[in-house]
Amino acid sequence: MNTSNFDIKNVTVIGAGTMGNGICHVFAQCGYQVSMLDISQEAMDKAKITIGKNMDRQVAKQTLTEEAKIEALARIATFTDMGEAVKNADLVIEAATENINLKTKIFEQLDQLAPANCILATNTSSISITRIASHTKRMGKVIGMHFMNPVPVMRLVEIINGYATDKEVTNVIHDLSKKLGKVPCVANDFPGFISNRILMPMINEAILSLQEGVAGVEEIDTIMKLGMAHPMGPLQLADFIGLDTCHSILNVLYQGFGNQKYAPATLLTNMVQAGFLGVKSGEGFYKHNPNSKELVVSERFTNK
Ligand code: CAA
Repeated sequence: MNTSNFDIKNVTVIGAGTMGNGICHVFAQCGYQVSMLDISQEAMDKAKITIGKNMDRQVAKQTLTEEAKIEALARIATFTDMGEAVKNADLVIEAATENINLKTKIFEQLDQLAPANCILATNTSSISITRIASHTKRMGKVIGMHFMNPVPVMRLVEIINGYATDKEVTNVIHDLSKKLGKVPCVANDFPGFISNRILMPMINEAILSLQEGVAGVEEIDTIMKLGMAHPMGPLQLADFIGLDTCHSILNVLYQGFGNQKYAPATLLTNMVQAGFLGVKSGEGFYKHNPNSKELVVSERFTNK
């Protein structure tokens, strides 16, 4: 395999949210120079604290030394100016909010500001790679690099080829994912790719089952946890991912395939409209207390 046209050393990650900070964490831990870019310095300061805390868990488990943690954190620089953040980048990974207009605007700017040989990857969970790439003049160097949450723990990287992605670029990202200790799997550019084409209908079906009164929150999640050995039940997972994110991915599937089977459950739509988004808002199917690991079903779904 010839990957000689690309030598990935400097990586820029756009977005300091959950996915962005997890991606920075993994690259910095693996020895890459990381530039974190966000419009909010405060969000990046918070992200660095989160990365430090997550690395502390690894130190406590002796999977990382205190010294390696300090070195890794020192490899992460923060920027609010895109030109500065990408001027030496070999790879940019965009992990901004899941919004097509925002992403296409970011890629237009990246195409202008990043070095000509820089690979532009997106961590999108459902937006078309081909559509994002069409906003650049380097469609061959645009690719999907979809990490899973929590990024330091989950082993998968779903790599998505856009219609015009160069084979060599796919190979580079495949090798790089392995260097990060991940298992890469390549998919093509169809709505939801593989991960969310399969995951989201399961989550939606769990919400429809709740909506129809087939069973309660705890029963649905326990059946899937104990019966299918899932680490989290589908309703807990929906809260963890964010109900707004689930809703928007289901809409991408629904519109992309034009098939009613992907239409978001009305209960999900209502919860999103009312601002009950799961972990990030403090309540979804469960009540979430950042200081407690106890799972408490929201009283909207109990008879109490
Ligand atoms: N960084 C580093 N380590 C972390 C971490 C983080 N952010 N989060 C958790 N960990 C570690 C913990 O230290 C712990 O390590 P040990 O077991 O070695 O002690 C381990 O991960 C498990 O964590 P916890 O004990 O806190 O909790 P848990 O056993 O309940 O596991 C979980 C938590 C890993 C999140 C597990 O519940 C799980 O795998 N859930 C499913 C996650 C999933 O499906 N993710 C994909 C979502 S879909 C997506 O991301 C993409 C999309 O497009 C929507």
